Amino acid sequence: MPNFYFGTSLSAHQAEGNNFSSDWWEFEHSILKDKGLAPSGLASNHWELFENDHKLARELGHNSHRFSIEWAKIEPSQGQVNYEAVNHYKKVFASLSHNKLIPFVTLLHFSLPKWFADLGGFEKKGNIRHYLDYCKLIGNTFRDEMKHIITINEPDIYAYHSYLINKWPPQKGRYLLYSKVLKNLALAHRLAYEDLKGINPDFQIGVAKNNQVFRPDRSGNPLDHLLSHLLHQQWNHRFLDLIKKHQDFIGLNYYFYRCVRADPKLVDTFCQMSYPTSRKTDMNWEVYPKGLYILLHDLHKRYKKPVIITENGVADRFDKLREDVIKESLYWTMKAREEKVDVQGYLHWSLIDNYEWDSGFEQRFGLIKVDYDENFSRTVRPSALIYRDLIKKYQKQIEQE
Ligand code: BGC
Repeated sequence: MPNFYFGTSLSAHQAEGNNFSSDWWEFEHSILKDKGLAPSGLASNHWELFENDHKLARELGHNSHRFSIEWAKIEPSQGQVNYEAVNHYKKVFASLSHNKLIPFVTLLHFSLPKWFADLGGFEKKGNIRHYLDYCKLIGNTFRDEMKHIITINEPDIYAYHSYLINKWPPQKGRYLLYSKVLKNLALAHRLAYEDLKGINPDFQIGVAKNNQVFRPDRSGNPLDHLLSHLLHQQWNHRFLDLIKKHQDFIGLNYYFYRCVRADPKLVDTFCQMSYPTSRKTDMNWEVYPKGLYILLHDLHKRYKKPVIITENGVADRFDKLREDVIKESLYWTMKAREEKVDVQGYLHWSLIDNYEWDSGFEQRFGLIKVDYDENFSRTVRPSALIYRDLIKKYQKQIEQE
């Protein structure tokens, strides 16, 4: 067991390629195509190159790796298991073990099997049993290969994009449905937790939760304060409160720093606006590494569970910001750790460049660059070497405690 989990995160749909039985595949070949966006296609060809990618991760000093198993590949039609896909993931686990990378396994990372989406996905409580069957299949098959399981990646980001702002499939923006989907996802998690624990009580189970820092725009304005507080509660606590008795750790995905202003003109963005900082990623997101420290303390205080940072990173094609972001993010993580927050790992998003949902291939989050025109060749970015050196430094520091 390492003294701290250092590594990266990745998801199947974004990296593997050929996820043609999923709802996203269909969405890419209709709605996104009409918008002129290239489909995920072979993505980063991680399906074929995973051994090479794991080896690179090992060489970069990582001891852990988060990835997702694609339900649409395991069960492309309802009730029919594709054993070729199952065998593929067996090889993935074997390669991780060969490279001494501890697996963090996500069971659902946004994309759904198309048949499940056609049944109404998580809009219907009755559909949850299909998800549970899939979870049990994975739990039984890989009982001895995995310990850390993330049942659902960012339930709130999923529900928000798919059921509130109409951006992702099935593009049904209705508040009541959004609320229902969130509740069903929480129920799905709780039931999956129980089923998986029944298979192996040693499994460590959580969700990867997207939490954000909400900051009042005007320090002396009580309405800005009230709104920030309400958004913090709604976004950061509501889902976790629903599953608080069913989690062994909290996975924290951190990207966003929001400025909150009670202004009727901002109603479309739920009174949130960009915080004016000089550092912005290629996605135009603010860079605020101290946010990790704030959120780690908040989670620790409220839930008293170990936290693993399951995503944190920047879209930064020319690798101008990433080095500083990694340095500062690790600094704030370790500071929280010194102050007795039980934070046990940092998994950077992402190991390799990959398909960024409705933003396509332009956005580059990888420590390793992928050349899509040159046979998916991989080039290690300079920031990956800085991360490697920091891992060594912090591992030594922790050993000496
Ligand atoms: C998601 C990833 C995504 C990343 C960057 C997270 O919300 O889990 O799939 O690529 O953010 O946008």
